[in-house]
Amino acid sequence: MSQFKKGTLMKITLSAIKADVGSIGGHTKPTTKMLNEARNCINKAIQEGLIADGLVTHTGDDIALLMSHTHGSDNHDIHQFAWKTFLRASDFAQECGCYGAGQDLLVSAPSGNVRGAGPGVAEITFEYNQKEPRPAESFMVFAADKCDPGAYNLPIYLAFADPMYCAGLMLPNMIRGFSFEIIDMSYRGEEQDKIIVLDAPEDNYKIAALLRDNERFGIKNIYSRTYGQQAVAISTDRLHLIAGKYTGKDDPIALVRNQGMFPAPEEIISPFAKAHFVGGNARGSHTMPLMPVPINTAASGIYCIPIVSALGFSLNKELKFSDFYVDFFDNPAWDLVRLKAQEKALEMRSQGWSGPAMLPYSELEYSGFKETITDLISKFSIKDRSYTKP
Ligand code: 13P
Ligand code: MG
Ligand code: MG
Repeated sequence: MSQFKKGTLMKITLSAIKADVGSIGGHTKPTTKMLNEARNCINKAIQEGLIADGLVTHTGDDIALLMSHTHGSDNHDIHQFAWKTFLRASDFAQECGCYGAGQDLLVSAPSGNVRGAGPGVAEITFEYNQKEPRPAESFMVFAADKCDPGAYNLPIYLAFADPMYCAGLMLPNMIRGFSFEIIDMSYRGEEQDKIIVLDAPEDNYKIAALLRDNERFGIKNIYSRTYGQQAVAISTDRLHLIAGKYTGKDDPIALVRNQGMFPAPEEIISPFAKAHFVGGNARGSHTMPLMPVPINTAASGIYCIPIVSALGFSLNKELKFSDFYVDFFDNPAWDLVRLKAQEKALEMRSQGWSGPAMLPYSELEYSGFKETITDLISKFSIKDRSYTKP
């Protein structure tokens, strides 16, 4: 049944929700049984009319659920459905003895939506009638493993604020720029977030001043200043702040609408050719380059090199999108970038624990490294400058 008639304005929501609920032989990938169970749940939700369409993928050890529906963002039923789906998948992880079964399900049962409970959430609600200025809905989903939400700061800033990477910004429908909603990820309110809104291009230096700190500040949403429509949503939860200790990396998911009033996909993916250095990797404690990979790639590179996937979709009038999609990084054009990422990774790894190869203490203080360091610090003593070892 058609979800809407062409020309009738209707609010549509895209929800991308991801979680790590267990993986094979370390933090690598979920089992086929886990993914199949999540797919069964999605199919049932389509049959029951909760969602119009859905797709289950994995990037490294994280399962991503992508859904289209008409219930709006932060909807109780959609979020509870996602939570229960992850629980079902984690039962299978438990059964197979998988590592980290239920890893990202950090509370016993969230009463409302799953934000702040462990899973990463990116949602965009928009009005769609297949007419100008948005005759076709084209969007993409990025999913990253072994890194924090700040991993998207540089590439998404370059795509939405720098004409060196996105010449489309000079076109009439984008020349007024985009509003960046930036979140202070160190703040943890019960129901609130700490947000600043800055406008590109006039605030570009200020945006950069915040986004250079990948651990503390992250892009939460981006809006077109010409049309008021939302272009980007990124999951920005820091799991160690929810759990109070290191339980795994945040592994953010991002929804990005593209074409027409927004940058084109080729402009959005081009900054990922940098394979820029991000925080995360082995034990979530190191700095390594972000490597673009095809969807459903296991995380099995040296020292858990961070990986990112990018799928592109078109939404039809029945809100279906899952039958066909393009896998942007599954293309020989990205082989050179993967090689570059490996070279950068080996170079950084060659200095082991020294300096920028490992994350600063503020990031490590939630991990086991804290105990080793705290113990040593407690053994320091104040000595006279003339002291010599007895
Ligand atoms: P994940 O966050 O992907 O589970 O990885 C955790 C880790 O510590 C890998 O070394
Ligand atoms: Mg894991
Ligand atoms: Mg992961």
